[in-house]
Amino acid sequence: MTDKVLIAPSILSADFTELGHEVRRLKEYGADYVHLDVMDGNFVPNITFGAPMCKALRPCSELVFDAHLMVTEPSKWIESFAKAGADIITIHREADVHSHRTLQLIRSFGKKAGIALNPATSHNAIEYLLDDVDMVLVMSVNPGFGGQKFIESSLRKIEAIREMIEKRGLDIDIEVDGGINETTAKLAVSAGANVLVAGNSIYKARSKKLIIEKLRGN
Ligand code: DX5
Ligand code: ZN
Repeated sequence: MTDKVLIAPSILSADFTELGHEVRRLKEYGADYVHLDVMDGNFVPNITFGAPMCKALRPCSELVFDAHLMVTEPSKWIESFAKAGADIITIHREADVHSHRTLQLIRSFGKKAGIALNPATSHNAIEYLLDDVDMVLVMSVNPGFGGQKFIESSLRKIEAIREMIEKRGLDIDIEVDGGINETTAKLAVSAGANVLVAGNSIYKARSKKLIIEKLRGN
């Protein structure tokens, strides 16, 4: 885990007619990751894009590609995302009864494995998966859409997960996703998160560079 707070802009909130351009510029804005929200219209009530989009955007940036799969049966898609150049592949605990096996599959491709939890899912649901993950993604909104309000109870969940990780002496990032702005970013980092996803707050800001610095806490 890095001490530095990492910022992962969600391109879901970017101008889709200019995606290549948007991704090319993320490095100069100071972003660390490119967060790709993959939705299947089944696990969540929205459809976005799949591995071909990841592949198309890959040459546009050297930043870490952070694929957040909001899809049922994610095991079907791991190979395509690995081959499309994703660096971190995160699956939802609720979307896969065999999460343990799928996380190992992600690592078998040399990729970082992430496990995501919906707001209603307890931190206990990942207690037996911690040895098999590089990142835990705590959803602070119900997945499906950008621009929603941060759910406060996710802070307690972040604290509980950070405590579990520290007690076991593991090196695992905690990413928080949904409703992150200058205020909620501070709360999430104090609770123990070290990777912040932000869509609306970045793409609606006048200066992306400035808002990224502020979210990071500089
Ligand atoms: C929600 C997505 C998020 C979302 C974040 O399902 O996983 O990544 O786009 O957007 P904001 O920051 O606008 O809540
Ligand atoms: Zn996301």
